Amino acid sequence: MPAEHLGADALVRVSISAMLEHQSENGAFVASPDFSQYSRYCWLRDGSFVAYALDRAGEHAAARRYHDWVDAAIGPGGIAAQIDAVVEKRKAGKAIVPGEMPPARFDLGGAAVDDDWPNFQIDGYGTWLWALGQHLALTDSPYLPSELRASAERATRYISAFALEPCFDVWEENGGHVHTSTLASVFAGLTSASILLGDDEASARAAAVAACLHDRAEEARYFPKSDGNDDIDASALWLAAPFRVVAADDPYLLATVEKIEAELVDRGGVRRFPGDTYFGGGMWPVLTCSLGWYYAGAGRRDEAERCRDWTRERFDDQGRLAEQFGGETRDPESYREWVERWGPPARDLLWSHAMYVVLCAEIEEYSQP
Ligand code: BGC
Repeated sequence: MPAEHLGADALVRVSISAMLEHQSENGAFVASPDFSQYSRYCWLRDGSFVAYALDRAGEHAAARRYHDWVDAAIGPGGIAAQIDAVVEKRKAGKAIVPGEMPPARFDLGGAAVDDDWPNFQIDGYGTWLWALGQHLALTDSPYLPSELRASAERATRYISAFALEPCFDVWEENGGHVHTSTLASVFAGLTSASILLGDDEASARAAAVAACLHDRAEEARYFPKSDGNDDIDASALWLAAPFRVVAADDPYLLATVEKIEAELVDRGGVRRFPGDTYFGGGMWPVLTCSLGWYYAGAGRRDEAERCRDWTRERFDDQGRLAEQFGGETRDPESYREWVERWGPPARDLLWSHAMYVVLCAEIEEYSQP
């Protein structure tokens, strides 16, 4: 029997337990315990959303352990020198080689992995700074702990230097473009840094990023996927929640949401982008909950609850929540190709659990009369 019979609250506890259970002692969150390509790594993007969800659930010690893990991974015992070198190179106007850039993911020990993964993705560093700011706000901590300061400064210098450069997107594709949701994460990271570090330059840079997004929307009349692709991408939802580049009722965001509803919502679940073929391009809990998160913030409670219910019905009888659903019937050929390459897709994804927890928290929060 699917675990949905447990109801939303009990499943929130299932999701919190899954995230805690799969946190390493040093603070890392494995992306998925069961999928070949994810089971040995912690992504800054996934991990930062997971830490935020745990903060929303009151699990502050676990969230703090994650921030300490990031601090170690990007600090002097980790990739600090690599970050400093590329920032210097950028300042000197030298050419940047994508393979030299700081990684999107680390092994669980916090070490960078020397492989051909499309590592140059700056959004994770922005999302980390955002999640760190949220951690402090949700724990009523007025100051950034001094031991985290150097890493926060370093991540800020990095995303500031590369804010408007092409890099791989949040789906680890399209390395030649500047992506809307990447800019949104960078905006949130710089805004957080401006507060945590009292850094006016970060605040000015965040304004430049917001202006770039605004100009792009002004031209297209909605927020397109990137500067090189007019398609819609569901990750654009993050422009409002959680990254707050624009308000939920911004006219260009409303037009974007309408497009997402028309082109990417499939039987209640949300796909990533129209041409997605990864494991058949199914519906993702991460994005269905993102749409619910948007609706909750826009006061559209019934629709937010529908997103929650769709996700709730996707837990399996072991309390697992997969990365995506339905790809095997939507595009069987692509699905098969990916299975042949990497084995079956992730049946349990920590980031899916995280977004479910956040959506449930949001619905509670916004249900107050
Ligand atoms: C997704 C990324 C995610 C990674 C680990 C990839 O397939 O495109 O957004 O960070 O999996 O979950």
